[in-house]
Amino acid sequence: MTATPPATPKRAADRRVSRKGRLRERDRTQPLDSDVQIVTRRLSKRYGSLVAVDNLNLEVRAGEIFGLLGQNGAGKTTTILMLLGLTEPSAGGARVAGFDPTRKPLEVKRRVGYLPDNVGFYESMTGRENLRYTARLNGLKEADAAARIATVLDQVGMTDRADTRTDTYSRGMLQRLGIADAMVKNPSVLILDEPTTAIDPLGVVEILDMLRSVVRDRGLAVLLSSHLLTQVQSVCDRVGIFAAGKLIGVGTVHELADQFGEDVGRIEVGFEGLDAGALATTAAVLGAVEGVVSVKEPVRPIDPFVLMGRAGQETGRLREAILAASVQRGLRLSLIREVVPSLDDIYRRALQRLPDARSGAAA
Ligand SMILES: Nc1ncnc2c1ncn2[C@@H]1O[C@H](COP(=O)(O)OP(=O)(O)OP(=O)(O)O)[C@@H](O)[C@H]1O
Ligand SMILES: [Mg+2]
Repeated sequence: MTATPPATPKRAADRRVSRKGRLRERDRTQPLDSDVQIVTRRLSKRYGSLVAVDNLNLEVRAGEIFGLLGQNGAGKTTTILMLLGLTEPSAGGARVAGFDPTRKPLEVKRRVGYLPDNVGFYESMTGRENLRYTARLNGLKEADAAARIATVLDQVGMTDRADTRTDTYSRGMLQRLGIADAMVKNPSVLILDEPTTAIDPLGVVEILDMLRSVVRDRGLAVLLSSHLLTQVQSVCDRVGIFAAGKLIGVGTVHELADQFGEDVGRIEVGFEGLDAGALATTAAVLGAVEGVVSVKEPVRPIDPFVLMGRAGQETGRLREAILAASVQRGLRLSLIREVVPSLDDIYRRALQRLPDARSGAAA
């Protein structure tokens, strides 16, 4: 039998916290809730006077990819080490795959696949041999292990290099093997610390697609840390913005955009067959539309105008008004779309608001 998810579903009480912040052991009187695979309550870590992780409250459910996004030193790795029982919290607690990592690190280890930020392997062994070693440590039978290893090697695109020694691997190959290694035991939770930093852009797309499909097929809970905004945006269902040990925003990219995006709606409008000479008059037409606060003219007539709406205004109405004005003036609209702020914009704005988040005790 492999280290598959626990037979008994985890209970809601698994994520209950005592007043001190430590999570209680299972409470059989509580309803079942097998969805939450990672939960932290007021999880904190101090190193002397430095607060590396500050009152962190987090939940990751089965079937979701959660991205912990933060700059160098934000506390991502420290959080992950606490989730795995590799370092002890100074306060608060966590529950991972149904167990308290501080008290039951082996139970957690059995169910959680982990890619460390500094992944390393036995250099004199091949990739496949390293995975076989991990499989054996995790109690996989040899026959099951061989098939499982072949599958994960294929999933990370390492089948061709599986039988050469790992000391000949590039950094990206090591990282791919590290992801395979985390998946070999069929975990119910995957924790990946900066999984794609060394992988080339095309490889990243493949790896992220692969992660999405294993999450979809097997309902894994995945927590990944990253400072790479675009990757987090492309693969994560929810994102936690982490700064100076605090979670200063959590949600889908859309929710975060609502929370940290601009208050004004930004709309791009493009026209077909517009003359360079007609740019100014067209800008004036757009500027006269009810609710438009400013219009930025493009340099070339084939590029869009950028319109800003009034603060807090519903952009749907604004789009209708722009459409009506264009039709009335005989302008042929080729594009009208709301510009959703990128995670980059959101992140920058969230950081700017950090002093508020701190005084508001984000925990
Ligand atoms: N063992 C330690 N002793 C003292 N301070 C530590 C220790 N480990 C981490 N820190 C400090 O805790 C803070 C958070 O570090 P952590 O490694 O968790 O950040 P991170 O978000 O993973 O950063 P990176 O993106 O660089 O990996 C940093 O200020 C770091 O210097
Ligand atoms: Mg780190």
